[in-house]
Amino acid sequence: MIRLPVLLTSLALAAPAVAGDLASSYGPDAARVAAVVAPATDFAAPEPFEARPLGAATATGGTPGALLPNLSPEARMQATLGEAIFEKLWVPAPTATRASDGLGPLYNARACAGCHEKGGQGRAPVLKLGRSGAEGGGVAPGIAGWHPVAPDPGLGRQLQDFAVTGLQAEGQLAIDWHAVELPLSGGEVAHLRRPVPRVTPALDPATRTSLRMPPALYGLGLIEAIPEAAIRAGADPEDADGDGISGRVAEVPSASAGGVRLGRYGHKAGAATLADMVAGAFSTDMGLSTPLVPDPWGDCTAAQTACRAWPSGEDAGLRDSREVGGEALTAVADYVAALALPGRRDVAAPEVLAGKAVFAAAGCPACHRPKFVTARSPADPARSFQLIWPFSDFLLHDMGPELAVDLPEGVATGAEWRTAPLWGIGTTGRTRFLHDGRARSPLEAVLWHGGEAAAAQARVVAMPPADRAALIRYLESL
Ligand code: HEC
Ligand code: HEC
Repeated sequence: MIRLPVLLTSLALAAPAVAGDLASSYGPDAARVAAVVAPATDFAAPEPFEARPLGAATATGGTPGALLPNLSPEARMQATLGEAIFEKLWVPAPTATRASDGLGPLYNARACAGCHEKGGQGRAPVLKLGRSGAEGGGVAPGIAGWHPVAPDPGLGRQLQDFAVTGLQAEGQLAIDWHAVELPLSGGEVAHLRRPVPRVTPALDPATRTSLRMPPALYGLGLIEAIPEAAIRAGADPEDADGDGISGRVAEVPSASAGGVRLGRYGHKAGAATLADMVAGAFSTDMGLSTPLVPDPWGDCTAAQTACRAWPSGEDAGLRDSREVGGEALTAVADYVAALALPGRRDVAAPEVLAGKAVFAAAGCPACHRPKFVTARSPADPARSFQLIWPFSDFLLHDMGPELAVDLPEGVATGAEWRTAPLWGIGTTGRTRFLHDGRARSPLEAVLWHGGEAAAAQARVVAMPPADRAALIRYLESL
């Protein structure tokens, strides 16, 4: 017998707007898809396929870093090739073995795996940098509402805390934690902590910053397979339905796909495709050029002359002269796209089902949209037409002043963040939550929600402790 949460009887279910023009995405399947992704209304038993976050692509074992089980042999070989490049430690140029050089001159890590071990979440955040407004000459790519953020003139777009021998790193990042207490119903008290970045040597006061945790990369290939129109259908920029929640689409230029696309990756949805995201990572985090981001000096600014003059790993004798050639870049993107998630735990446990009802009643699905169906794609059968459970609408939401930074990105203001997908938050050993990693549990993450999510947060603060416990149990089952 499922005990319904108190809130469920007093609140209308906050259903995301999924109607939209699904026909353009799914053709003759549109009605079937609409029925399948409709919000749950019965919490007495699990929904069909609820335990399989990636549909048929869900990992069969519990090992993080497993590849999608339904890949073709060719796709599996390609992903394995990409995995080797993802794990490889790059070295500074020049070396005799040309295939692995070109690191830096400034960098944060020598391998992708340095921040995403086995595709998982990183241990420490990086610090994004920038100057806002016209002062730095930020370039607007002709997208309405784009914030003209320029790189910091001395340090670029990110603080690199390593440099090749002979050059100095830009600085070291430390975090000061400020304790915050939040009383909850039933006499409980949450002990939260707010991060304040501290850089040595100190930054110019005009430099704006944003701490960013390296996310786990599991399931990202299925996110790429969601039709743009299905995500756009959930947007409600003017809050036409009056629920206080106004998800906005992030429009971003895409180097890999060309033109302006819907941003789906990164904490502010700043990248449209995995190839764009991975090319950006090679450049900013490791100082490696690719056909999509061709500067061999990575994030060094014109003022960093010694860095710009440093020998590069580009090889003019090769057809694909970049430090990371187009085929290697594609292989790494294909590897990331092939990372699987394990199945959910205990979907039929009574407390988990009770927590699922609390999740719905508190209004969480308005942003953490449980279900999508991926596009039909004969060329990519592993990811084609799967019912997936990311728990995100992939839209930007104003999350209030506590989570806001003073550095906008693309069309996202400092206060707007992409709804974090909740799949895997309980099953993949995550210990840090939110864009800057301040939260140490899913509950702490919820308690920092403000802005458009303030009402949902207030319901969690005020609900009976037993409902809160069920909600936590549900989140841990995801
Ligand atoms: C120094 C640490 C660091 C290194 C090295 C690094 N990343 Fe990341 N990665 C991050 C951070 C931080 C973010 C979040 C960025 C943001 O918010 O825009 C991220 C985000 C991503 C995302 C988007 C995840 C999502 O859920 O939207 C992908 C994909 C990714 N990285 C892949 C890679 C690959 C591939 C490499 C190697 C080429 C790499 N990363 C190297 C720190 C790192
Ligand atoms: C208005 C939209 C919105 C609503 C409503 C909302 N969230 Fe969120 N949630 C977000 C956004 C955006 C983020 C990412 C914020 C960040 O990284 O700073 C997030 C992050 C999270 C995280 C951290 C995930 C991670 O990987 O770090 C958890 C857990 C979470 N939400 C749970 C909930 C629960 C439970 C509810 C209902 C009580 C809820 N959220 C309601 C938008 C929302």
